[in-house]
Amino acid sequence: MIPFKKWFGSKPLSAEQMERLDADNVPNHVAVIMDGNGRWAQKRGLPRVAGHHSGMKNVKKITMAADSIGVSVLTLYAFSTENWKRPKEEVDYLMKLPIEFFPKEIEELIANNVQIRMTGWHEGLPDYTLKAIQDAIEQTKNNDGLILNFALNYGSRKEMLSGVKQIAEDVQSGKLHADEIDESVFSRYMLTHPLPDPDLLIRTSGELRISNFMLWQLAYSELWFTELCWPEFTEQDFFEAVQEYQRRARRYGGL
Ligand code: FPP
Repeated sequence: MIPFKKWFGSKPLSAEQMERLDADNVPNHVAVIMDGNGRWAQKRGLPRVAGHHSGMKNVKKITMAADSIGVSVLTLYAFSTENWKRPKEEVDYLMKLPIEFFPKEIEELIANNVQIRMTGWHEGLPDYTLKAIQDAIEQTKNNDGLILNFALNYGSRKEMLSGVKQIAEDVQSGKLHADEIDESVFSRYMLTHPLPDPDLLIRTSGELRISNFMLWQLAYSELWFTELCWPEFTEQDFFEAVQEYQRRARRYGGL
């Protein structure tokens, strides 16, 4: 049974639930495409941004759930390089979420030894968004518990193209030899470096696609999809995904 790490204010898992999890096979890195905020709101007659607000509140719950079972890295897809195409009011609202989320939650995140990280491009983000996340990164830099990594202004094809360009420059300048380029060298040029690849990808809202998210890093990840929209995705659903992960045999192309 996994010893439960209790966050203050959080509901502990029942002993039965903990017993159903295999402590030796917890996914080290879980990545989540938090989809369906807009549909969740629209179903309730609310504006789309109300869904994003509820989605933000869910970040804390799922962070607690992940940490309580010993996940090391939780990456959340918060804003893609394609999301700039949305109406300006929605983009503006999303960009303001970090300035609400971090001041409200930082104390508890620090008390629970969480390290905040960001994967994505700084350029293009409003100064206040970047400052909110950079302050949180700075304030949690000495923690060594769960890494809560926000994929913000992130897109995988752009990441790979900029990695390839950088590799080309390094080969040209003699810093790198073409015959040295292997998977581990290529990974070093990804924005996610030095994080490990995700073991489990969760996508909410019933969409069955990857949407330009960590295309290189997800090569051997287990994929788990649910019809539930992100704001209604609970700790129990997270544990269900982990349980399903534990039932899978990962073969990496072998037998
Ligand atoms: C996709 O749902 C969701 C997003 C584009 C935003 C996700 C962001 C959060 C949950 C908040 C993140 C919190 C912080 C602190 C950065 P959608 O609106 O595309 O859903 P739809 O497909 O139903 O329209």
